[in-house]
Amino acid sequence: MAEEEVKFTVTIDGIPVNVAPGTSILNAARQIGGDIVPPAMCYYSKLEGSGGKCRTCLVKVSKGSEKDPRPMPKLVASCRTTVMDGMEVQNITSPEVVDARKGVVEFLLINHPLDCPVCDQAGECKLQDLGYEHGAEQTRYEFGRRTFERIDIGDKIQLHMNRCILCYRCVYVANQLTNKREHGILHRGDHSEISTYIEEALDNDFIGNVIDVCPVGALTDKTFRFKNRVWFTKPVDAHRDCPSCSGKVTLWYKGADVLRVTGRKDEFGEVEDFICNTCRFDTKQTNQWILEEPTKVDKESVINSNHYYNFNPPAVIQENPSLQEANEEQLARTEKLK
Ligand code: SF4
Ligand code: FES
Repeated sequence: MAEEEVKFTVTIDGIPVNVAPGTSILNAARQIGGDIVPPAMCYYSKLEGSGGKCRTCLVKVSKGSEKDPRPMPKLVASCRTTVMDGMEVQNITSPEVVDARKGVVEFLLINHPLDCPVCDQAGECKLQDLGYEHGAEQTRYEFGRRTFERIDIGDKIQLHMNRCILCYRCVYVANQLTNKREHGILHRGDHSEISTYIEEALDNDFIGNVIDVCPVGALTDKTFRFKNRVWFTKPVDAHRDCPSCSGKVTLWYKGADVLRVTGRKDEFGEVEDFICNTCRFDTKQTNQWILEEPTKVDKESVINSNHYYNFNPPAVIQENPSLQEANEEQLARTEKLK
């Protein structure tokens, strides 16, 4: 007889969920979904070893477990704390957690410039969201902010070190997705900085993914830079037969032009599949892709201000028979939706 799978019951903000032993509190909360999911600026489920750096995911464990119901003495990072059977956790139902998160945001903003109006990440920035949700109106910080000289890391990726919150995600991407590691974090404490060591270009096939994992605007796409604001673009899911990656992407349209290509992101802002540089930087013609449907965007997102629910093929498709053929299925679906 097959052994019964052991599950632990954990209650988060009053909502119980059964999860496998070894699951983190954050991932248990993600299984419930919705507002009770703690924000995560450094944890990334697809990157091994990530998490534990930013403290935005702090929660209160008000009951340790069924066997030992004592509460944990201080707030814990939910991305690095595994569940116990009978554990009770508070996130948004704990004023202490909400207050602590406000403090973490204040710390993250000590050195982060408030240059959202000129930053390419605006509208997709996790720190911007956190700032709106938990930020204070004013900073209490009186000292000079850290500033850095511009470092050139190649013709495709822009590093803007002043905006970096040292989450380490890009370092894990370089370590785990590419076959050579060219950049990392130098120094420690408030001297820490992302560097390419000898300021070499990051030129391997999957390195473009650092752009997608960066939660702020420290690593942005030079091929898209200053071309448009993200809320004026229309995201469409598309795929192609790519020899290096899954070829499943989101195309960001302005009119008939693809302004940028990114990995597809899930509800927690993580990419579903890492994509290669060829798909990201060098494949920006609609006829190189099979279009699927408009990307589903969170209703709270600023990108949704321009969201449309039916597939609205760009004019270039409507005028070109070979493109119509490539997107036959999608066009037929659109007809049905009319
Ligand atoms: S550059 Fe971005 S991804 Fe890399 S450590 Fe800084 S904030 Fe994180
Ligand atoms: S997401 Fe948990 S510490 Fe950063």
